[in-house]
Formats: sequence, C-alpha cells, structure tokens
Amino acid sequence: MTAAPERILVLLKPDAVERRLTGEILRRIEAKGYSLTALKLVVPTAEVLAAHYAEHVDKPFYPGVVEYMTRGPVVAVVVEGQRVVAGVRSLMGATDPTTAAPGTIRGDFGRDWGTDAIQNLVHGSDSPESAAREIAIWFPELGA
Ligand code: RTP
Ligand code: MG
Repeated sequence: MTAAPERILVLLKPDAVERRLTGEILRRIEAKGYSLTALKLVVPTAEVLAAHYAEHVDKPFYPGVVEYMTRGPVVAVVVEGQRVVAGVRSLMGATDPTTAAPGTIRGDFGRDWGTDAIQNLVHGSDSPESAAREIAIWFPELGA
C-alpha cells in the first residue's frame, strides 16, 4: 500500500521573482522529489490576496502585505507528494528570514529589509485543508 499523495500551494513571492530565485527555489522542491502539477506567473489582485490572507486582513501589517505582494508577479505552484506540506515547509524554513535556519530557502536567501511586511520569498500552505482552500483561490480553473 502507498499512502495517498497530498498537495500544497506554494507562492514564490515578488522578492523571489525580482531576485531571479524562482529557478533555485523550484530546483530545491524538485530535487527533494516532489512533483509540480500546476504553475503560473501572475500579479495578484487585491481580491485574491484578501481571500488568501483572510486571517490577516485586519492586522496592522496587512497594508504592507498588499504593497509587497502586488508590486510584481508571483509564481503560484501546486506541488504534490506524500507529506508534501511538512516537506516543503521544512525546505522553506521559519517565517522570519533573519533567524531561519541556514540550509532553508528563507535562511539562505532571506533577510530583514526594514519593510512593514516581512519579505520571506515563499509561502506554503500550513495543512492539506489550507492547501485545498488556497488552490481554489489561485487555480479556480482546476476545479478541485
Ligand atoms: P509560515 O509560512 O511560516 O506559516 O508563515 P506565513 O508566511 O504564513 O506567515 P503569516 O504569519 O501567516 O503571515 C503572512 C505573511 O505576512 C507577512 N507578515 N509580516 N510584519 C509582520 O509582522 C508580518 N507578519 C507577517 C509575511 O510576508 C508573511 O509571510
Ligand atoms: Mg500563515
């Protein structure tokens, strides 16, 4: 018996695109053995962001998140594999790039830039349930 694969929604945020790190980040995800099953380059609308970050829209840093996340394109990716949520979040490292462990994406490539919103290169869904909700927002055409 093989456990069913799960899915995660990964966003390569505007700083990752600006710094030409999308290939490196996708390389790490693929090198670990996961599969990319959908991918698009898109400038997020305010509506998509508000849906994605519904839990944060009333937080003081949310206007900074909008400024950060809409300043250029992001690469939205659906990644699949057994326990992929835990695996990709391990590759990403801690939310704060200043203290994220070396060897992780945020630890190796991120830092504090003094902005209202933390710029940390990547987003990854925190559970299979969050992934399903977020994939429906970013990839409505998948109809899943
Ligand atoms: P993680 O993947 O480690 O679960 O964290 P996350 O990116 O989901 O972080 P979350 O706390 O959910 O916040 C969402 C995004 O908003 C920005 N942020 N800035 N200035 C701040 O205190 C602050 N807090 C959050 C970051 O871009 C974060 O990724
Ligand atoms: Mg979060």
